[in-house]
Amino acid sequence: MYEIVAKEALAPVTTRLLVRAPEIAAKARAGQFVILIVDEHGERIPLTLADWYPDEGLIDIIFQQVGKTTMHLATLGPGDALYALTGPLGRPTEVRNYGTVVCVGGGVGIAAIYPIARALRQAGNRVISIIGCRTRELMFWEERMAELSDEPFVCTDDGSYKRKALVTEPLAEVLERGGIDRVWAVGPAIMMKFCSLTAMRYGVPIVVSLNSIMVDGTGMCGACRVEVAGQTRFACVDGPEFDGSQVNWDLLIQRQRLYLDKERLALERFQQKEQCRCQATLGGATNAAR
Ligand code: NAD
Ligand code: FES
Repeated sequence: MYEIVAKEALAPVTTRLLVRAPEIAAKARAGQFVILIVDEHGERIPLTLADWYPDEGLIDIIFQQVGKTTMHLATLGPGDALYALTGPLGRPTEVRNYGTVVCVGGGVGIAAIYPIARALRQAGNRVISIIGCRTRELMFWEERMAELSDEPFVCTDDGSYKRKALVTEPLAEVLERGGIDRVWAVGPAIMMKFCSLTAMRYGVPIVVSLNSIMVDGTGMCGACRVEVAGQTRFACVDGPEFDGSQVNWDLLIQRQRLYLDKERLALERFQQKEQCRCQATLGGATNAAR
């Protein structure tokens, strides 16, 4: 069991959990992820490591409450424990001194781009960061990103905070100026697709972190397969980072939608169960008060 030691609401639908996992904290590197199971009946879900603290034996995971498992995860807090946690998984980011790099984080992908940008900065790169969210209340870790950036850009789709733009707009401007050696982008697949097309237009290499569906995380089940440069690759062991110019984005997006109906059903059942549990608790409390 893996104890949750702290919980923070970063946005109305975005939660940060600090989890005791000394072995993972000791080995984690930028770009890697963990797979967790909330309880004994739960499914396995991959989450990118947002940060880790080897001295304290803790790891940071950040997630959006979008489906049954992440909703369930968000009901946990300090004192609770995760049923299972495996990691660090995946190949770490290839950190070198490339020169000037751009790190793009979209939505909850900001959590995943943060350790990558930090590692690239520590390796001597000049880091330009671009983070974007749909609206102001979804923004988080702006200060953390600014601290490690030589030039930070912040934008929202609706213009409710800082610049009104999708992340691809400042990305194109920065690339237009020239002198960029490599781009990293983490966020929704559609964002990574358009970041890749933008970088390709300027002939600049781009690395993306693919969030395909995962089950075992060890290269055996094939659930996470993606097509890169015309070949089938497994995001969990060959990635999660790949050359964005070579990814078959349409196939990835199509595969991400495969289980939407089942996910919706699982979420409805979970919400009904939670509602019954709350009503039973309230009923018990009312009876006790009588
Ligand atoms: P979102 O839909 O709110 O989009 C975030 C930002 O991406 C937007 O603000 C915008 O700037 C940009 N964007 C979106 N569509 C775009 C388009 N068509 N063109 C250009 N830019 C576009 O994101 P969200 O709801 O926070 O979802 C985050 C996604 O990131 C989830 O799908 C999650 O699975 C994924 N994620 C991936 C990883 C990974 O390692 N690959 C890690 C964490 C999260
Ligand atoms: Fe099973 Fe990658 S998750 S092969």
